[in-house]
Amino acid sequence: MIKILPSILNVPDNDVQKAIDKVKDFVDGIHYDVMDGRFVPPTTFTVEDFKELDIPLFTDIHLMVDHPEEVIEGYAQAGANLLTIHYEAEQKDVRATLEQIKKLGCLAGLSIKPKTLVTDVPDDLWEYADVALIMSVEPGWGGQGFIAEVLDKVRYLRGKFADKDINIDGGINADTAHQACIAGCNMLVSGTYIFKSPDYRKAVESLRH
Ligand code: DX5
Ligand code: ZN
Repeated sequence: MIKILPSILNVPDNDVQKAIDKVKDFVDGIHYDVMDGRFVPPTTFTVEDFKELDIPLFTDIHLMVDHPEEVIEGYAQAGANLLTIHYEAEQKDVRATLEQIKKLGCLAGLSIKPKTLVTDVPDDLWEYADVALIMSVEPGWGGQGFIAEVLDKVRYLRGKFADKDINIDGGINADTAHQACIAGCNMLVSGTYIFKSPDYRKAVESLRH
């Protein structure tokens, strides 16, 4: 089963709650992009924004921030289900951050940017992470083109870890979703493709085929 997680980074009229309400019946969760203006140039949502939302679904918090260890507790307490950190982010110790996430009762996700090699991350760290998130665009902005080369990383991970949740983020549409699933992804984040489409349900269904 493929899980579809809409990214609510760029939604019509910036009305995040309305966007969530409109997709909640036919998606598997919500992907929430947190940017700190340091790890990536833009600044987006904070934990305070998150607390104001009513998300009756699985929530994947994508932390594009340095020192994620300083913010994860707040998101966990506010109801996050999956907290995804970046391997490249400044932090004391990646493994310790993942452990902290698990101790807080959340699933621990580990992400790499397009230019980071999948083999830069030790296999035991991939093994320890509940979810691997492969970025298929440079983190920071929605609406960019899919970098197909990153599918090699998905194939590598799927070859090593048959049961791992493998997620992909950036430039996902019906065509690239298909490629990603063949490569081994079982989770897909998609923002622009869903929220620029005239029929959200149809767009989501097209990602499942
Ligand atoms: C980019 C974010 C993505 C982004 C995906 O840094 O992590 O989640 O919103 O948006 P699309 O689907 O437009 O590439
Ligand atoms: Zn994201």
